[in-house]
Amino acid sequence: MCGIVGFTGRQEAAQILLEGLKKLEYRGYDSAGLAVLGKNGISMIKTTGKIANLCEKTQDGKLLPGFAGIGHTRWATHGAPTDINAHPHMSNDGKFAVVHNGIIENYAVLRDELVERGFEFKSETDTEVVVHLLSLYYNGDLKEAVMKATARLEGSYGLGVVCADYPEHIVATRQFSPLILGVGVGENYFASDVTALISHTKNVIYLEDGEVADITPDEICVYGPTGKPVEKEITRVQWDMEAAEKGGYDHFMLKEIIEQPRAIKSTVEPRIKDGKVVLEELNLSDDEIRSIDKIVITACGSAYYAGCAAKYTLEKLTRVPVTTELASEFRYSDPIIDDKTLLIVISQSGETADTISALEEAKTRGAKILAIVNVVGSRISKLADNVIYTWAGPEIAVATTKGYTTQVAVMYLFSVYMARRRGRISEDEEKRLTGEIMQIPQQIQRAIDLNPQIPSLAKEYHHNKSLFFIGRNVDYAVCLEGSLKLKEISYLHSEAYAAGELKHGTIALIEEDQPVIALSCYEPLFDKMMSNIKEVKARGAKVLGVTTEGQNRIVREADDVIFVPKTDTLFGVPSEVVPLQLFAYYVAKENGCNIDKPRNLAKSVTVE
Ligand code: AGP
Repeated sequence: MCGIVGFTGRQEAAQILLEGLKKLEYRGYDSAGLAVLGKNGISMIKTTGKIANLCEKTQDGKLLPGFAGIGHTRWATHGAPTDINAHPHMSNDGKFAVVHNGIIENYAVLRDELVERGFEFKSETDTEVVVHLLSLYYNGDLKEAVMKATARLEGSYGLGVVCADYPEHIVATRQFSPLILGVGVGENYFASDVTALISHTKNVIYLEDGEVADITPDEICVYGPTGKPVEKEITRVQWDMEAAEKGGYDHFMLKEIIEQPRAIKSTVEPRIKDGKVVLEELNLSDDEIRSIDKIVITACGSAYYAGCAAKYTLEKLTRVPVTTELASEFRYSDPIIDDKTLLIVISQSGETADTISALEEAKTRGAKILAIVNVVGSRISKLADNVIYTWAGPEIAVATTKGYTTQVAVMYLFSVYMARRRGRISEDEEKRLTGEIMQIPQQIQRAIDLNPQIPSLAKEYHHNKSLFFIGRNVDYAVCLEGSLKLKEISYLHSEAYAAGELKHGTIALIEEDQPVIALSCYEPLFDKMMSNIKEVKARGAKVLGVTTEGQNRIVREADDVIFVPKTDTLFGVPSEVVPLQLFAYYVAKENGCNIDKPRNLAKSVTVE
């Protein structure tokens, strides 16, 4: 995933582009570049490394005078992060420059054709074919050249283009990659997402796939796939800059952990009216809901673990069989699904390649598709028949927290909604359940407030090279997420294990001082967990117990204890996972890790 920005107006473009790229660095940060339309045509500077390197190399943009330009921050897919492979890419004659987010899947064939035609390639990227196609098709009409060039492309792209013959113009177009236009006064913008725009304007236009925007300081003309002008609605973004900034926290991740009560509140409250779950955005009829005979949840990473955790509630309430499938596996598994299957895809970014492919695979087999997504206008939101947005606001940290808990909360809402329509619960039961769901924000807040000791616990455990997370039933699903959080930001190895499975082999690994985090919140199996804690203690383990308030017996057995509020067993995941998020955060902080941008990771994995 990469970040692209464009600006045209009556002030120096370069500084504005650099500022926009800084806001998009979480989308990928291994190289970056700018191209600006100046008096003598297009000037371009690019570099490996972070935006700070680009600021230095361009002397904060001073070396690129001009009032219109494009910028790019890269997460490499084709070609290593090098100056040459960094975007923008320029045509051989210097007339065009292009920035791109996505993957041109037929670039090899196009490259061969263009080389045949005498074009010289400088980089190893797929993107460079675009700039030479523009040269090939340009006859003085920039929009037309963009349409002809992109007609040759297969794959995904969010593209920004400048042309030396069009000094004030920036052109943007998209296919499966996000692209948003910012509407200013005497200046206009485009960007991969809102966070790069909202310090300048909250008035945005969401470009649709196949549309081309020809943008000047005073006008934005949008054309449909056939080249006909289309009227576009201007949307007012509810987020403010604050929401996308750190808000005084050391890291975006901590800010996003702490703002989970609000994120959940924003996500659930508008969907509960008079004790009923109201999902206006859903266009599944009651008959269709009643016809579903199985549900498959598919996603990647934490989104998958959110599905694993929510599965217990969904099955319990609807009595429809639910399976959870890793999207990267599902798409190649020749799945047994049909028009009576509901496929639920979960994705914070809505751009994850494996999840998109799983969705497309299921669609070809006739499944009904429900997407749970955080990013408006993302590719998954456009591919799915039904979308329920998690209104978590921008999630900047690569390690998801509020993305995960709001996904679980939406699954809770959908479980109640579906159970009611299948006659599994009465109106009174629905009222009770929605009342429980409305408690979740304060339960999360209490889970935070109850545990000021987590930073010191992190000091105790941060030096361990490997930790175990054990739990049963839904607690085991929460272990999966807690373990991933720890791994991806602190770089400590950890493993989530079904506690009942330990005795079948893994307990051989338990030795003196082996840290074991024992999740014992699922009340019906608390006694079983106490036995598992005794089991590992007997072999020398050091146990950090996590349980609900009132389960004081655990204090006798565990070395350390984290208490979380008692909840309905159907809705305990959000308040149980938060201490694990905080634990991972403080361990990573103790280890001096780059918490918001962990090594080797990007916020959304838009490649296979
Ligand atoms: C979570 O902390 C990770 N960053 C990663 O596992 C992520 O959840 C996964 O890549 C799925 O991303 P998505 O929700 O945007 O599809």
